Amino acid sequence: MATPAIKPNHGATVPDVVAVGDAQESQTSWLNKQNINPEARIHLAKLSHMRYQHPDLDEISGFMLDFGMQIVKQTENEVWYRGYGPDHYVYYARKGPKQFLGGVFEAQTQEDFDRVTKLPTAGLVQDLSDAPGGGSSVTITDPEGYPCNIIFGQKPTDVQVSHQEKIVLNYAGEKSRRREFNRFEHGPAAVHKLGHFGLCTQKFDAQLEFYTSTFNIVPTDLLYIEKDGEKMIVTMFAHLDLGETHVDHHSFFLSTNPGSAHVHHCSFEVHDFDTQQLGHQWLAKKGYKSVWGVGRHVLGSQIFDYWWDTTGNIVEHYADGDLVNKESPIGYVHAGSESLAVWGPEVPAAFLG
Ligand SMILES: [Fe+2]
Repeated sequence: MATPAIKPNHGATVPDVVAVGDAQESQTSWLNKQNINPEARIHLAKLSHMRYQHPDLDEISGFMLDFGMQIVKQTENEVWYRGYGPDHYVYYARKGPKQFLGGVFEAQTQEDFDRVTKLPTAGLVQDLSDAPGGGSSVTITDPEGYPCNIIFGQKPTDVQVSHQEKIVLNYAGEKSRRREFNRFEHGPAAVHKLGHFGLCTQKFDAQLEFYTSTFNIVPTDLLYIEKDGEKMIVTMFAHLDLGETHVDHHSFFLSTNPGSAHVHHCSFEVHDFDTQQLGHQWLAKKGYKSVWGVGRHVLGSQIFDYWWDTTGNIVEHYADGDLVNKESPIGYVHAGSESLAVWGPEVPAAFLG
């Protein structure tokens, strides 16, 4: 009896509407069903930076430098770290017991910012004149009790963003690199910008409703489990709705976690696959602890690499993520490890916890 042929693996770049498959819905349809008026939402321009509290600033600074960030300013109790992208800083650390202080989104206009300050849980407006770029921020509290920060009024940066050189790759059927050799230097994977962060939640429905009705945050993918024959949405990957403008597949996610509500991770973009591998090797040699990686996600397509920072938070390097816009369909995907990665190490329990 002939053995069945084993098909070789295959990769392709395909349109979003094809990649998502049959279980899809337009963003407009979803917003209508949720009774969300897109114009009435507070508009965010981008994800700006992350804020965490760490007991030992020297230790976390050592890690962040090895992770590929630069210190832009520090005082006795605070440190601001930047990437090589256009943001004044992408990560803020304050001295104190381990605590998640929230992600920070930038409002599109002063009016959007003012609307945040009038939300029921809004704190006082904070003057950020001590921080690089200045501006103001306000913190609101989401239904789970997480802080959510909005910033506005940062000065434009005068830093010239110089992107790293693109490596020319030779494929079996296409040799673009001739008499040119690829050479690399060891070191941290330089961080470009903050890409996304995500929260584990015990109040998934309330959190989803809060973020998608308050802000221009819309689902990119909704992951479900089957319960009593019904599909129950348990995870949302979400992007910022900037209309036709292409944005990252997700800058925010929510994931049901029956065990506890906590920040899952925040993720920073690096240049490419080699950069990421070299960065992985650098962190490993320095003795830091890998969480999961290097591998390639399915949803968002990113090459991922997750690490424990020195305080016990998960931080990620990613490269080659998908872009979407308002025409991209929302995908409905069965939640399971097969939706997490197409290749890479086995998903460790620590990642799912
Ligand atoms: Fe991630």
